[in-house]
Amino acid sequence: MADSFFKWDQERLTTHVEAMDNEHKKLIDIMNRLFERNEAKAGKAELQAIVRELASWTVTHFDHEEKFFDTLPYSQAAVHKKIHADLITRLKGHAAEFDKTGVLTPAFFQFLKTWLTAHIMGIDTKYGVIAAQKSA
Ligand SMILES: [Fe+2]
Ligand SMILES: [Fe+2]
Repeated sequence: MADSFFKWDQERLTTHVEAMDNEHKKLIDIMNRLFERNEAKAGKAELQAIVRELASWTVTHFDHEEKFFDTLPYSQAAVHKKIHADLITRLKGHAAEFDKTGVLTPAFFQFLKTWLTAHIMGIDTKYGVIAAQKSA
């Protein structure tokens, strides 16, 4: 597992929901691959394919996550969905910019990193708490 850009940190990032943790790990894997191939100066077509994979997996993951927390008494569901929609808009904006310029900017990687730390740690862990209470 490539972890040059972002390393999975069980203690800080776990939602205590194994299926969601596995999906987050896959997300991080794709981001790391994008970072590494970009560092290795891979061609635009290859990077574009990874950006598309990231966007498509993100859409899939958000869909799985929303279906999961909709089964819980989770009061932040609507806000969480709105945040997902905003993240997808921003991700697609970065992807469109890359299509035009062929350059993956530091701002793009910063966005990915912030998303991981702020969203997984600050937001996703909240449904984890509810899920743990439900199964306790
Ligand atoms: Fe989320
Ligand atoms: Fe998530």
